[in-house]
Amino acid sequence: MVVLNYSFLIINSSFFIFNSSLSKMYDIQKIREDFPILSRTVYGKPLIYLDNGATTQKPKCVVDAIVDEYYSVNANVHRGVHFLSQQATNLHEASRETVRKFINARSTSEIIFTRGTTESINLVASSFTDAFMREGDEVIVSVMEHHSNIVSWQIQALRKGIVLKVIPMNDRGELLIDEYEKLFTPRTRLVSVAHVSNVLGTVNPVKRIADIAHAHNVPVLIDGAQGIPHIKVDVQDIDADFYVFSAHKIYGPTGIGVLYGKENLLDRMPPYQGGGEMIKNVSFEGTTFNELPFKFEAGTPDYVGSTAMAVALDYVSAVGIENIAVHEHELVDYAMRRMKEIPGMRIFGEAEHKSGVISFLVGDIHHFDMGTLLDRLGIAVRTGHHCAEPLMRRLGIEGTVRASFGMYNTREEVDALVAGIERVSRMFG
Ligand code: ALA
Repeated sequence: MVVLNYSFLIINSSFFIFNSSLSKMYDIQKIREDFPILSRTVYGKPLIYLDNGATTQKPKCVVDAIVDEYYSVNANVHRGVHFLSQQATNLHEASRETVRKFINARSTSEIIFTRGTTESINLVASSFTDAFMREGDEVIVSVMEHHSNIVSWQIQALRKGIVLKVIPMNDRGELLIDEYEKLFTPRTRLVSVAHVSNVLGTVNPVKRIADIAHAHNVPVLIDGAQGIPHIKVDVQDIDADFYVFSAHKIYGPTGIGVLYGKENLLDRMPPYQGGGEMIKNVSFEGTTFNELPFKFEAGTPDYVGSTAMAVALDYVSAVGIENIAVHEHELVDYAMRRMKEIPGMRIFGEAEHKSGVISFLVGDIHHFDMGTLLDRLGIAVRTGHHCAEPLMRRLGIEGTVRASFGMYNTREEVDALVAGIERVSRMFG
């Protein structure tokens, strides 16, 4: 039974879409039924999960794909002549094609499997720097970057003496594009910015950012961790040179993610790690490296993770990323309106284009206290600096409470959040 089920996934992915309980209409209750965890309680209260920016919950089909692969296909990929290994390899490579289609890359050679966004950025930081940068060369990032997109470059600054330049923002949390243009010098080698801020929810104008960079012959890396779960991503339309994301933030498993890179850049970059799969021939005199994408995939890949990620992407496609975007946009708008009615409310991030995330503080209630007391009401939010300390410094605060939304969140949950914040506020007088 398991094998039969599974073979449908292998042979005909449209079966999954056809058989999905989802209709083309956005049926939130049906969607919620696909996520078993959403029906659990915490402290005897229904779970209200608003920490999707940290990680999303998984639909049953994703968890089933993991279990099915371990039960019925498991074998190492690219290495065996035997049936299971070939079947596992086919699945793994079919997943690469699913990712390619999802972001509209030109070729599967441009899809590198990594452990996630952070590893993808570290890979580019290391290999791009080695290939194209020397002491004094510059990378432009923005003030709203996650630490992954700051520290990876600072490590290269220590190793190679590269220099970081920072795009500032206005008080609404929008990047200042005029100031960005002024940062370019003959030493600028790369621009590396978030698609969507994990704190402010700002949707950055990545197409325009890429256009400006390209006018200076500078490539662009887009950190899509908080973008891809909410917005239709077309890497050719953005003209991103690199686009990176994690599966677990788009309803897939933890521990796997993607580095998309243009072939002409990846081809000229050295491998990031050495080991199996990334070689063609090895002798003690020297090694020749494998072709793309394998040159960047040392060691046994997370082939179960890649299958589950592909199932997650198919699930998102079946619901429709545009439908998800509309639903979440309405939800964030509604939440912003309701939250602004709360006395003492300060919302961080009021960009015209905003997605997925609302960061806030109320009066002088510490973010940690607010988060802990909301938790007791069954409401899961994140508190702290959200791995964006430079942004916190820019905002003049230590941290925020962050509610972040997913495709399954409802207006009723927003109402419960608002009621919860009001209740906590009353406790603090
Ligand atoms: N980067 C993740 C977040 O923003 C963990 O919560």
